[in-house]
Amino acid sequence: MTAQLLLTGATGRLGSLVAAELNRQGIGWRAFARRTDAALSLGASNVVQGDFHNLASVAKAVEAIRTVILIAGDAPDQELQEINVVNAAKQAGVQYIVKLSAQSAGLNPPASFGRKHIQVEQAIKDSGLQWTFIRPVFFQQSFLLFADSVQKNNKIILPAGKGAAAFVDARDVAQCLVKTASEAGHAGKVYTLTGPQSLTFAQAAFAIGDSRGRPVGYIAPPAFIARIVLPKVSGMPKWLAMEVIDLLQAISRGAQSKVTGDVQMLLGKPPRDFKSFAAEHVQSFKSV
Ligand SMILES: NC(=O)c1ccc[n+]([C@@H]2O[C@H](COP(=O)([O-])OP(=O)(O)OC[C@H]3O[C@@H](n4cnc5c(N)ncnc54)[C@H](OP(=O)(O)O)[C@@H]3O)[C@@H](O)[C@H]2O)c1
Repeated sequence: MTAQLLLTGATGRLGSLVAAELNRQGIGWRAFARRTDAALSLGASNVVQGDFHNLASVAKAVEAIRTVILIAGDAPDQELQEINVVNAAKQAGVQYIVKLSAQSAGLNPPASFGRKHIQVEQAIKDSGLQWTFIRPVFFQQSFLLFADSVQKNNKIILPAGKGAAAFVDARDVAQCLVKTASEAGHAGKVYTLTGPQSLTFAQAAFAIGDSRGRPVGYIAPPAFIARIVLPKVSGMPKWLAMEVIDLLQAISRGAQSKVTGDVQMLLGKPPRDFKSFAAEHVQSFKSV
């Protein structure tokens, strides 16, 4: 039997965790991917090779599909890429979309990456398809992006001030995506996924330092300095660096500090905590 579940973005950081969870549960899935070999190696039952910008490939991907887990990467036109999938899904008679969104889409007004995610959420609502929106806060795994700075300088330098965030483990996010896509009762629901406690970046840096046995400091430059420096030192394109700074500024104002019970409610177990993340990734943060 061909898979009735389509996963987009399977070859990405979060998507590959979703793929692993689908495989663990023995759920067959089709991948829509730019790289067929990579998607097959992640365990896809079959792959439709394509690109979100190529409408013919998107239409092929949703053929005979019942449920779509919609994940895309951050891009200047991310909302248009995802809306191409929504339109094709409606056309093909797909019943249900589980959209990976972001907590920042639920802020009033939405901030940073959330401004694109909220447009996709609206398009899905307008489509008449059944939907669930999964809105995680900042992933614990995103700290791996700062591993280089921790290894070389023993510091995390980000403009998040003294703001705290309830950093969530991306594996919990992946499990919640699969849970909501594979059982009834989640249509029309919005889940905001967080970890079990809210930490400032200074506390997160301390936890990383504690786990590797060498302190890690946190420096919070003003946003106007970060806007000049971050694109140069991070290698990120300027638009992406601006979105990241915008998110960190929202966090500095407390936008992601609230802990929710949604992971516990969906998975029947407490969310993974930051200390465990730091311990599991101790090698990535060791000094060079
Ligand atoms: N990181 C966080 O803290 C956080 C928090 C909340 C929400 N989110 C959201 O999580 C989502 C996924 O993040 P991620 O880190 O997993 O992203 P990622 O690693 O960049 O993965 C993006 C995926 O989308 C695919 N893709 C990109 N452009 C494509 C195109 N034009 N056509 C077809 N496929 C394309 C990529 O394929 P290739 O492998 O071919 O590149 C990859 O599979 C984002 O929407 C982000 O806003 C992230």
